[in-house]
Amino acid sequence: MHPTQTPKTYRVKSFGCQMNVYDGDRMAELLAEQGIAPAPEGEDADLVVLNTCHIREKAAEKVYSDIGRLKREDGSSPLIAVAGCVAQAEGEEIMARAPSVKMVVGPQAYHRLPDMIREASEGRRVTDTDMPAETKFDALPRRRRSGPTAFLTVQEGCDKFCTYCVVPYTRGAEVSRPHGDLIEEAKRLVEAGAREITLLGQNVNAWTGENARGQTIGLDGLIRELAQIADLARIRYTTSHPNDMTPGLIAAHGEIDKLMPFLHLPVQAGNDRVLKAMNRSHSAESYLKILEQVRAARPDIALSGDFIVGFPGETDTEFEDTLKLVDAVGYAQCFSFKYSPRPGTPAATMDEQVPLAVMDERLQRLQAALNRDQYAFNTATVGKTCTVLVERKGKLPGQWLGKSPWLQSVHFEADAQVGDLVEVEITSAGPNSLGAVVRMVAAA
Ligand code: 5AD
Ligand code: SF4
Repeated sequence: MHPTQTPKTYRVKSFGCQMNVYDGDRMAELLAEQGIAPAPEGEDADLVVLNTCHIREKAAEKVYSDIGRLKREDGSSPLIAVAGCVAQAEGEEIMARAPSVKMVVGPQAYHRLPDMIREASEGRRVTDTDMPAETKFDALPRRRRSGPTAFLTVQEGCDKFCTYCVVPYTRGAEVSRPHGDLIEEAKRLVEAGAREITLLGQNVNAWTGENARGQTIGLDGLIRELAQIADLARIRYTTSHPNDMTPGLIAAHGEIDKLMPFLHLPVQAGNDRVLKAMNRSHSAESYLKILEQVRAARPDIALSGDFIVGFPGETDTEFEDTLKLVDAVGYAQCFSFKYSPRPGTPAATMDEQVPLAVMDERLQRLQAALNRDQYAFNTATVGKTCTVLVERKGKLPGQWLGKSPWLQSVHFEADAQVGDLVEVEITSAGPNSLGAVVRMVAAA
């Protein structure tokens, strides 16, 4: 494409968290509204949006290699926009280092993409990494189609300032979207085909708003209201901070059938000195106490977490405390990472950065324990009857794939279609998925 032409086709590539997937979908809708069509599979797009993640090192490096790879055989490049958290954190560097990038747009500014494309099509390079007070959500188009599972961003940003994390800098301060907007968006999603909604936020359980009667409510209140939407079958939320697990939200797990028995509650480490240095403002014990309460409210809850190994100064003995915590919890699934210094964060300049080889070894040990527990959790579901929300066809003829209430992938044979809720009996378990036989199909 010649740089002074308006793009006709686009491709959005999202990296990182579910929030980015949500943002990527919103950008795609915004572009479609401008009359720009998704590029057919396997064909070059006139406009490529790289919706980036900055949480760990490799993600940012990947952006630069992706930019390089977009170069066509004739030496030309599509119109490239870098969006997301790398754009926010390293916008100027990207502009300097990658001349083929014409637009840099931060996570709070992507509703301005259409204007930016107009400017870039006229040959200018544009950056917008503002964090405006007015919400970008108002400027986004309505969603008209949805698969059976949908994301709904209810809260963005973070005020916690864990010392290793870039999120408070890239996504800004905690902001809750207004209650009325969320109820309306959820209803529209359900009308558009969603049967499960996952509420998203960097600190989703810090969400707060005012309901129609003017009362201040928390995430549990919002979930209670969403559960009233008749054709919405399932509600999930992620990611939560231990300090925002209110008694109301814990109780909601025992009281609201549509709230799925799954909780992702990152702990990061099992040693109190390390947790303090991370500025987590909870201890291993207070975290375990919360899980105990959640389990009392909902005994079959599947627990999930995030871990960082090799935080600056972490000793072998301190790391052992992480393994002890893992043993005490018995997680259903987890994410675990090697510590990655993020420029501008307090931990990046702390003494005693842990050597890579030590981090590698710790990560292997941690992941072996987490895999063991995940497999044990999966095995324990064999023989249980549960509903599965059908998400897509499997590899084999007649096979379907969906998720159990505990977020496990389940495959089974059935006369079903996408969006059906199928009652199954779990018959086999692997490390990453379950097999099942059908008991009953409730049509979508
Ligand atoms: N290094 C490694 N992992 C990190 N995370 C956040 N920042 C870093 C970092 N600098 C992990 C945390 C968080 C998850 C989203 O990413 O575990 O919960
Ligand atoms: Fe990052 Fe901590 Fe905020 Fe999570 S709570 S987004 S880890 S600063």
